[in-house]
Amino acid sequence: MHFPEGESSTSAQLTRSASTDSETQLKFRKHKPVWNESHTDEPPAGQRFSTWPFVEKGLRGPRPYPLWLIEDAGAIDTELGILKTGKEGDVFLLERAIGQRQSLLAAKRYRSRDHLQFSRSQAYSDGRSARRSRDNRAIRNNSAYGRDIAALQWANAEWTYLLRCYEAGIPVPYPVQIDGTEILMEFIADPDDQFAAAPRLQQLSRFDPRLPSLWDQLVDALEKFAQLGVAHGDLSAYNLLVSGERLVVIDVPQCVDLAGNPNGMDFLHRDCVNLCEWFASKGLEHDPDELFASLLGHLF
Ligand SMILES: Nc1ncnc2c1ncn2[C@@H]1O[C@H](COP(=O)(O)OP(=O)(O)O)[C@@H](O)[C@H]1O
Ligand SMILES: [Mg+2]
Repeated sequence: MHFPEGESSTSAQLTRSASTDSETQLKFRKHKPVWNESHTDEPPAGQRFSTWPFVEKGLRGPRPYPLWLIEDAGAIDTELGILKTGKEGDVFLLERAIGQRQSLLAAKRYRSRDHLQFSRSQAYSDGRSARRSRDNRAIRNNSAYGRDIAALQWANAEWTYLLRCYEAGIPVPYPVQIDGTEILMEFIADPDDQFAAAPRLQQLSRFDPRLPSLWDQLVDALEKFAQLGVAHGDLSAYNLLVSGERLVVIDVPQCVDLAGNPNGMDFLHRDCVNLCEWFASKGLEHDPDELFASLLGHLF
C-alpha cells in the first residue's frame, strides 16, 4: 500500500537544500499535515493508516520488538520527506505515530513499472532465481511485468538479508516490515538532529577522531558477515552510516551467499579493496589482501 500520488501536501512541505553530493537532498519541515479522524474517512495525501496490522506476521521484524516500535492498529503513518532518490528506488522518512508516541522510520521503496531498468548487475543474483520460469523470462526481457517482479525480488532480497544480518548481530537498521516493494526499517538519525539521517562515512574528514574506532567496528561487522557466509557486495563509504560513535551498515539487497554465488569471493575482495582504499585516503593504512585473508578464516 502506497501513499496517493500527485501533488501532495507532503511535497509542498519539502524545501531543497544545498546538496553535499550529486544525490537529491531535501530538508524536512518538522510539521506534518493535521488530520482529524472525525472529519473524513480517508487520511489526506502524505498520510495513511499504519500498515503494520495488515502485514502478515512472517513479514514483520524479529522479536523481541524494540521499545520504540508502534504496533497499534490506530497509528498513522506520515511521510515527512524524501531522504534519497535512486535508480532503483527511493528512501523516505516516515513517522508512525499514535497519541503522544512517535517513531521515525526509513521507508525504502523499490520502483517497478514505467521506471528505469534495474541496473544492479545480474552477477549479484547468480544462484538466485525466480520460482517460475515465466518470471525469469519476463525479467530477462525487461517487460513491464518483469520489472514489477524484479522490484519485488530486490525488495525481498533486501528484507531477507536485513533480517539475517540483524539476527547475526551485524549493525544494520532494525527491519520493521516488508509490504510488497516497500521496506520499513529503523531510521538511523543524526544525534544532533533527530529528523536528519546520520551522515555517510564518506562525509567524514581525515581528522575525524572516530575513524580508528569506526575501522574496528567495520572489521567486526565484516567478520560477522563472513561467519554468515555472506558478502555485502557493495560495501563502500556510501553504504555505511555514522550515528555518533556507531557505525551502521545499510543497503543490503545485493548481498551474495559465498557458497552459492560463483562471483561471491570477487565481491568480498572488492569490498575489502574499496574500504581499505577509503581508509587509506584518510591516512589509515590497511592491507586489503590481509583483510580478505583474515575474513576467509571466519567463513562458516
Ligand atoms: N535506515 C536508514 N536510516 C537513515 N537513513 C537511511 C536509511 N536507509 C537509507 N538511508 C538514506 O538513504 C540513502 C540511500 O539508501 P541506500 O539503502 O543506500 O539506497 P540506494 O540503493 O539508493 O543506495 C542512504 O545513503 C541514507 O542517506
Ligand atoms: Mg546505497
